[in-house]
Amino acid sequence: MTVETILRPYDDDAIADAAERILGGECVAIPTETVYGLAADATNGEAVARIYETKGRPSFNPLIVHVNDFWEAEEIADFDRTAQILADEFWPGPLTLVLPQNPDSPVASIVTAGLPTIAIRMPAFPPMRDLIAAVGRPLAAPSANASGRISPSRAEHVMATLNGKIGLVIDAGGTVHGLESTIVAVADDHLRLLRPGPIDRAQIEAVTGLELRDTKDGTIEAPGQLKSHYAPAKPLRLDAIDAEDGEFHIGFGDIRGDASLSADGDLVEAAALLFDALHHAEQDEDCDSIAVAPIPEEGLGAAINDRLRRAAA
Ligand code: TXA
Ligand code: MG
Repeated sequence: MTVETILRPYDDDAIADAAERILGGECVAIPTETVYGLAADATNGEAVARIYETKGRPSFNPLIVHVNDFWEAEEIADFDRTAQILADEFWPGPLTLVLPQNPDSPVASIVTAGLPTIAIRMPAFPPMRDLIAAVGRPLAAPSANASGRISPSRAEHVMATLNGKIGLVIDAGGTVHGLESTIVAVADDHLRLLRPGPIDRAQIEAVTGLELRDTKDGTIEAPGQLKSHYAPAKPLRLDAIDAEDGEFHIGFGDIRGDASLSADGDLVEAAALLFDALHHAEQDEDCDSIAVAPIPEEGLGAAINDRLRRAAA
């Protein structure tokens, strides 16, 4: 399906247009100080599923949530002392923190791909800040490029891969940094560098007084190659037309199951509900294993199946 992509210069009317689209469940390309992001309402699972659909991502890689204020960040993630020091020093700016998610977080489960941690940052660039303020909700945004293509530092780069796939690109020229934010995971006052970026190791070590480790095994975790994936604690069986005794059956389309990902066979709805359904099945005390109905391997179905296969492995 192709749509008409409008390229608009950044001004108040463009932000109002973008906010209206985002509240309607669309995704919109908007520059931050690092790269152009493909933004959607982080509290709306179907809107976030459309980000994956638009990018043609073959898997659900967790996304970064963008907020304007520290109090908004605290509703979403738990900040220990080290995380607070980093936020004080580098926010707003090109630093993403991976933190334990607050149990009361309003963010949809597809944003974190079911993980208990969440990536969060406070951008500095006015277009993205204005959009967050106009929407009044946190925005999930990966880089605004088709999967496997380089990140966009200009509106033309967004158009090169997403023209015809999204309704609006807001153009504010070239970005300040031209590469993605530094990502640091903070847990129990230990720091790990998940992705190098504009804020460097020395700056982070200087303000925290802590060593910034690469990853557990000493190698830098490349973006898109996240090793920790959410997997339910119960065995998972795929392509299940019927359930066996003791199985929680997750349905799709004509296969109703105990809970359906989408009775209409809608893959966007199914993607939005996938992680909630797995968590629900995992917690159901009457079942010791999980069965999932067949999901067609088309569009978002490929990403859903990729995740289910990993969870079943
Ligand atoms: O500069 C940026 O960070 C841009 C702008 C738009 O903000 N965004 C960006 O997003 O680069 P994306 O989706 O292309 O990269 C996000 C990275 C992914 O590689 C993912 O592995 C990592 O963040 N990530 C997200 N949540 C995570 C989590 N809970 N644990 C570990 N890594 C996570
Ligand atoms: Mg990217």
